[in-house]
Amino acid sequence: MRILSGIQPSGVLHIGNYFGMMRPAIELQAEGETFYFIAEYHALTSVRDPKVLRENSRRVALDFLACGLNPERGALFRQSDVPQVTELAWILSTVAPVGLLERAHSYKDKLARGMTSSAGLFNYPVLMAADILIYDSDVVPVGKDQKQHIEITRDLAVKMNETFGQAEPARQLFKLPEPRIQPATQVVPGIDSQKMSKSYNNTVDIFADEKETRKRVMSIVTDSTPVEAAKDPARSTIIQLYSLFASKNEIEEMRERFRKGGTGYGDFKKELFEKLWEYFSPMRKRREEILADQSYIDNVLARGAERANEIADQVMKRVRAAVGL
Ligand code: TYM
Repeated sequence: MRILSGIQPSGVLHIGNYFGMMRPAIELQAEGETFYFIAEYHALTSVRDPKVLRENSRRVALDFLACGLNPERGALFRQSDVPQVTELAWILSTVAPVGLLERAHSYKDKLARGMTSSAGLFNYPVLMAADILIYDSDVVPVGKDQKQHIEITRDLAVKMNETFGQAEPARQLFKLPEPRIQPATQVVPGIDSQKMSKSYNNTVDIFADEKETRKRVMSIVTDSTPVEAAKDPARSTIIQLYSLFASKNEIEEMRERFRKGGTGYGDFKKELFEKLWEYFSPMRKRREEILADQSYIDNVLARGAERANEIADQVMKRVRAAVGL
């Protein structure tokens, strides 16, 4: 089984990225060959500062490795080290219906938030389809916000198979990938209870320092129920985030104390902070170790790029032959 996913270096990684994609992706390393990449071409649709893009990309690699990604078990690489993917994106774009792309939620959301439309932003799902199809991927671990993009990928793969795969019906030009979405962590809420997202400025970052992390957790938005009064655990962002880190018993115990009253939101937030800080402690340590060896990340990315190119070259050979190039 081949497993693939990508993450944009458009900012610093947060716990939504971690629970929605990184942790599942790391766990999937036990089940097959993994290809995880830093989606710089995608980030170019929003990042305009070359220095920032370069630094963020390196930092994504560092943080992913610190969180437990094992580079011996799969490839970690930069999207731009496999530029063939943009060729495939072009080929896919020639069969991609404009109407399909116009229906993409992510595109519509970005416009609604005031981002200027560009052909790149519009074609974003086509490039993402190329990312997935160029490695003959079977499974794509993502958060729920990416589900529609995987559906578009499948639509484009079917279209390509119908258009160019007829010569050999038994051998499809492209495999149809499956999204792998964790039910419990498909949408991690941010401190304002909307989806946690770099662009909503509501994140708790994985590797922020202690002071900043505490500040973010303490600023989770709550209602104004007084300390003594009973509180509703069902709709609480504090409980939702606490559930990512605590055991079943601990979660039930916190729910009970919500219902009983007598504890203020501030105290619950402190408990959440403690759990979260402790959870990422081994990863912070690993991150320091990686940072001490400057060449480590470069070596990992170079090896990853080599492996990714091997597969991408094979698939592109097949695609070029199929379309007549
Ligand atoms: P990106 O960089 O926005 O996010 C990376 C991954 O984190 C997940 N995620 C979340 N999951 C749960 N709750 C949240 N609040 C949350 N926020 C982010 C995302 O679902 C994603 O899985 N287009 C992709 C990058 C990409 C890609 C690909 C992914 C490019 N090519 C090919 C898979 C396959 C993106 O912008 O993810």
